[in-house]
Amino acid sequence: MKHFSLSFKKERLIILDQEKLPQKVCYIEIKNINQAFLALKRLKVRGAPLIGVFAGYSLFISIKNLKVKSTQTFLKILDKNIEYLRNSRPTAVNLSWALERIRRKVLMNLDKDVESLKEIIKKEAQTIHKEDIQLCERIAQAGVKLIKPTDSILTHCNTGFLATSGEGTALSIIYKAYKKYPNIKVYADETRPLLQGARLTCWELSCRGIEVILICDNMAGSLMAKGKITKVIVGADRITKKGFTANKIGTYNLAVLARYHKIPFYVAGPISSFDLSLDKGEDIPIEERNPQEVKTFGGKSVAPEKVKAYNPAFDVTPPELITAIITDKGIIAQPLGKNIEKLFKDVKT
Ligand code: MRU
Repeated sequence: MKHFSLSFKKERLIILDQEKLPQKVCYIEIKNINQAFLALKRLKVRGAPLIGVFAGYSLFISIKNLKVKSTQTFLKILDKNIEYLRNSRPTAVNLSWALERIRRKVLMNLDKDVESLKEIIKKEAQTIHKEDIQLCERIAQAGVKLIKPTDSILTHCNTGFLATSGEGTALSIIYKAYKKYPNIKVYADETRPLLQGARLTCWELSCRGIEVILICDNMAGSLMAKGKITKVIVGADRITKKGFTANKIGTYNLAVLARYHKIPFYVAGPISSFDLSLDKGEDIPIEERNPQEVKTFGGKSVAPEKVKAYNPAFDVTPPELITAIITDKGIIAQPLGKNIEKLFKDVKT
């Protein structure tokens, strides 16, 4: 069976429950907004692009059975639902990007009745979904040009078919590169505390028959010093107009290490992961999660019960540490700020 991260058929929203991977592969149906919120919060569904797609469908699920007739009442409920979903995960901009995009579409059609507005919401969510699949392929096509047949690539967190509705961002490049150059080597950081690298990246690469070497997060420097890593490719949750990039905690460490060892450090992400309303890294809201996640490993306690822990889920890599950003609209080279501005002049978002 070919696994998938999300499906929407006959108005039923099904996701692969990523909280259970790799021990259990189970698909669950999201039937209401509370289940959607919890799925986001507990990372049953995760990865910036997939969060955007999921949010669109969840919004539709949240209003599809509404019995109201007035468009104004409908809009009020819709706005409340948008706010509720938006607050589930603050860092990945794709979440508010998708919700805002659907809201804009509704506002443009306020002369229509409620049933037509529901249909419009569904259609827009489906368009976002379709686009997400295509943009993964475009990121792969752009990124594969940077790969050499003997590369040893280190990646962080999970950026593949589990994190998008296509083949992924950073991992889609690795999938394409592997078809072309079967001798490339792939290393995956375990990605503490929730182990997206160990649990998810290793699982999905093995589903695709690609050998992957799992390392603990604190091993990257030593591997680089030994010349075992030739490229680092990671994903993105939010990129500011100057190129500051929020991604899974630990990404910044890799960027600093890569610079010291003169290894190219690439970020891969779609246009929907850019937030041009923000300038600097400190403007990006960073999700802080339950400290309990740091005090446990695979569900088992690894620290004294009373010890305090700190659990920011993302960090920010400054533009000067990023060699280039690989997007669905091509590669953004240095200087990132200037070239991001140039790219967006020609792009309709
Ligand atoms: O907390 P997560 O698992 O949602 O974090 C995911 C990441 O940080 C990914 O690297 C990012 O969303 C890019 S996914 C293509």
